Amino acid sequence: MTTNDSRIIRAELLSFDADPGEGDTPAEGSVRHIEDGALWIEDGRIHAIDEFARLEADLPPGIEVIDHRGKLLMPGFIDSHVHYVQLEIMASYGRQLLDWLNDYTFPEECRFAQYDHALALSNAFLDEVLRVGTTTAQVFCSSHPDSVDAFFTASSKRDLRMLAGKVHMNRHAPEALCDDTQGGVRDAERLISDWHGTRRLGYSLTPRFAPTSTREQLDATGGMLRNDPSLWLQTHLSENTGELDWVAELFPESRDYLEVYEQSGLVGPRSTFAHGIHLDQEMRQRLADRGANLAFCPSSNLFLGSGLFDRQAASDIGLNVTYASDVGGGTDLSGLATLKAAYQVGQLRGQPLTAWQGLYGLTLGNAKALSLDENIGRLATGMEADFVVLDPDATPLLARRHARCRTLGERLFALMMLGDDRSILETWAGGRCQHKREQA
Ligand code: GUN
Ligand code: ZN
Repeated sequence: MTTNDSRIIRAELLSFDADPGEGDTPAEGSVRHIEDGALWIEDGRIHAIDEFARLEADLPPGIEVIDHRGKLLMPGFIDSHVHYVQLEIMASYGRQLLDWLNDYTFPEECRFAQYDHALALSNAFLDEVLRVGTTTAQVFCSSHPDSVDAFFTASSKRDLRMLAGKVHMNRHAPEALCDDTQGGVRDAERLISDWHGTRRLGYSLTPRFAPTSTREQLDATGGMLRNDPSLWLQTHLSENTGELDWVAELFPESRDYLEVYEQSGLVGPRSTFAHGIHLDQEMRQRLADRGANLAFCPSSNLFLGSGLFDRQAASDIGLNVTYASDVGGGTDLSGLATLKAAYQVGQLRGQPLTAWQGLYGLTLGNAKALSLDENIGRLATGMEADFVVLDPDATPLLARRHARCRTLGERLFALMMLGDDRSILETWAGGRCQHKREQA
């Protein structure tokens, strides 16, 4: 709920105005860092941001000033790809993608036919993401429309900016999870009319991945996207080598996996393709030409043994890369944990990730790639007041490490590698504090 309250948060402020680049020091003008800053929020938006000393003179009498000196305030984190319906099967042992789907994921998603279950899990999921500083996510629900109604209802009650959609799949999955092409279209159209553009919610068309849809279903999804380019689209692409072989068998008319989606009109500037590990440079170029983004899901790629994402190859040709947890394939909802895994994957590829690039990615980078940057991703006047207050001294060990850091870059990197939910002191969304860490 938006409030009419005005408030000032006094803290160290950090926000990105542009891509900092890959260097050890950020590109000129890309970072806004104010050591003793003030964020003035009003009616759910940022009214002003400045040095505290400069803003102090203009403050209305009696305005509440929340003193978070010693804490670091950043825009809320964004997760570009996550399955809320898989929360309770995180960390299921010992399978790679296709067996993991059949053995754990599909049976679990059957439970979301029940609205009450879906609502309870939506709320549990939102509690968890807010606990780790995430204020926006692009979310897979299950194939049941009720699972989407429940998720949007829960998100709307908290006035969160969220993208989500109903999974489409009409083959190679349990009967209870399959829709049929026309029924799926009708359900999606109803959900779009009820939720897309309501409050801060957006609808993302969600064909699960090529193997679980017929060509007819992929074409029908492309038709919906063509009819309304304000919709988003999310699916999976080239995650696992067994999946690649299966797609080649199922779609012999396509020269590669990406072309399956291209032929159905699914590749556009609002399309997110999760994973994209096993691609050649020509396929990456085709994605870049359409302005699509690849969601890099490092903890999931490590957990499911899918492979090491080539971030450099994407950035060389200007292909947008977003950062994502991919829970329940991923092992952690936390954006900081995602960056830690991205650093580790990068090290194995000779492409270490700087904290500048990682934190830019989690905030403005993800917002831009998802076309949400008019509203979120930066601390700037007029933007929605979604932000996270980080405690760099959250534990004795973190405080020790922090005390040894000499530069902001070192501090941010230590936070990215060692931080977890204890480092998230508060999470604010829509101008309200929606998570406050319990005192140790
Ligand atoms: N490919 C198709 N479905 C899924 C899913 O639920 N998770 C992941 N990681 N990959 C998929
Ligand atoms: Zn996924």
